[in-house]
Amino acid sequence: MKILVLGNGAREHAICQALGKSSKNPEVISYANAHNPGIAQIAKTVEIGDLMDFQHLTRFAKNEKPDFAILGPDDPIATGAADELNKIGIPSVGPTKKLARLESSKSFARKLLDKYDVPGNPKHKTFFTEEGIREFSQECGEIVIKYDGLAGGKGVQVQGDHFSTLDEGLAYAQECLRKSGKVVIEEKLIGQEFSLMFFVDGNSLTPMPAVQDNKRAFVNDRGPNTGGMGTISDADHSLPFLTPKDIQQAKDISIRAIGALQAECDEPFKGILFGGFMVTKKGVKLIEYNVRFGDPESLNVLPLLSTDFVDVCEAIIGGTLAETNVEFFQQATVCKYVVPEGYPDTPVKDVAIVLDESEVPEEVEIFYASVDKKNNELLLQGSRAIAFTGIADTLAEAQYLAETATKAVKGPVFHREDIGTAELITSRIEMMKKIRTS
Ligand code: AMP
Ligand code: GLY
Repeated sequence: MKILVLGNGAREHAICQALGKSSKNPEVISYANAHNPGIAQIAKTVEIGDLMDFQHLTRFAKNEKPDFAILGPDDPIATGAADELNKIGIPSVGPTKKLARLESSKSFARKLLDKYDVPGNPKHKTFFTEEGIREFSQECGEIVIKYDGLAGGKGVQVQGDHFSTLDEGLAYAQECLRKSGKVVIEEKLIGQEFSLMFFVDGNSLTPMPAVQDNKRAFVNDRGPNTGGMGTISDADHSLPFLTPKDIQQAKDISIRAIGALQAECDEPFKGILFGGFMVTKKGVKLIEYNVRFGDPESLNVLPLLSTDFVDVCEAIIGGTLAETNVEFFQQATVCKYVVPEGYPDTPVKDVAIVLDESEVPEEVEIFYASVDKKNNELLLQGSRAIAFTGIADTLAEAQYLAETATKAVKGPVFHREDIGTAELITSRIEMMKKIRTS
C-alpha cells in the first residue's frame, strides 16, 4: 500500500508517524513545499513543490500511484486538491473544494447553520457595505470582526484584544470590505475555548479526544495570536473545565452541521472535521469549523490513536467508520511548541539551533515543523519550529515531560512555560465556575 501525505508541518509529521506505526507497513510518500527532517525519516519519497501547484502535485501522484492521499493544510484543501486527485482516480482523506467552504468562508458556515436550524451560532451578520454595521454592533455589545476567507489565523479581530472602541473596529471592518467585499460581525462570546475533531466518512462522525489550544504568543495569554503555542488533552478525553454535557453539545452540533453541509453540497464529506467551540453561560457555541487536522491539536491526539491509522483512513474513504472500532489510549497529553525569538511578528530565520534528543524524555514525541536540516544543522525557518508532546497518566506529568523536553533545544527560541501547568488550568476551571454560576 502507498499513501501520499500533502504538507510539511508538524501536523504532517504526526500523520506520517501514525502511518509509520501501522501494521500494514504502507509506503509513505510526501508532497511538501519544504524539507521536514521528521517526515524525511519516514517517507520513502519526498517531492518538493508548491502545495498549490496542482499540476505538479497530480503529475507526481500519477507517477507514484498512491492508494489514497491525506491532505494536511487548509489552502490546498480549500482550492480543490481533493477534486484534482479524484480526477486521476486517487481518493483523499480531505474534503472537496465545495465542502471545504465550511472552513474557507466564515459567512458560508454561519449561513449554513442558520438555514438548517443547527444550534451553536452566536448572534452574527454578514455585511456587504458599511450600512447597518454600527447599529448591529451596538446590539451585540462587544463584537468580533471576521475577514471572510482564509487568512492564516490573522483575519479575526476581537474587541478588547485587538481593538477597543467601536470606531477602531469599524476601521477594520472597512478594510475587510475593501479586500473581499464582505465582512462578518459577531457577538463576542465569553468562556473557555476547546477543539473537538472528528473522523468523517460521509455517513457518520467519530470523535477524537477534546483538546485546548493556547493561541497567544506569551505566558499568561499575553501577546499576539499565533497558529497555536501548545495544547492539552486529559486522560478522560475531555478537559478539566468541561462537563460531559458540553462535549455532547459539541458532538450534536457537529453531526447536524455535517448533515447540513452534505445536503447543501450534495456530496459526502470524507476527511477531518475540526470544530473550535466556546463553552459559555448559554451552553456550547461554535467559533469556527476547519476541515483538516488542527496543528497542534493533531500532535496530541494522533499519538494516542490505538487503532491502526491506515484502517481509520480506509474507513473514511470507504464509508465504513460506523463498523470500525476507533480507540485512543486513556492518557493525558501536553504539547509545547518551541518557536524562534521574535515569533510571530519578527522571527529570526536561517539561524541554527541544536536539539539534543538524548535530553528528551522517552515518553515525549518530537514533531518537526518549520526547521530545515542542512549539513546536520537544524535551521529555523521563521515559523513554529519543533513541538514536543508529553504523554502520561496525568496532565501534571505530561506537562513536566513536555517542559523538560523543551530544554533540549539550544538557540534563539522560546516557548510557553505555563501551558498545561496546574496554575493555568486552575484559573480556567475557576473562570468557568464563575461563568456557569453567574
Ligand atoms: P477563528 O479564526 O474564527 O477561529 O477565530 C480566531 C480566534 O478568535 C478564536 O480562536 C477565538 O479566540 C476568537 N474568536 C472568534 N470568534 C469569536 C467569538 N464570536 N467570540 C469570541 N472570540 C472569538
Ligand atoms: N490550532 C488551530 C488550527 O490548527 O487552526
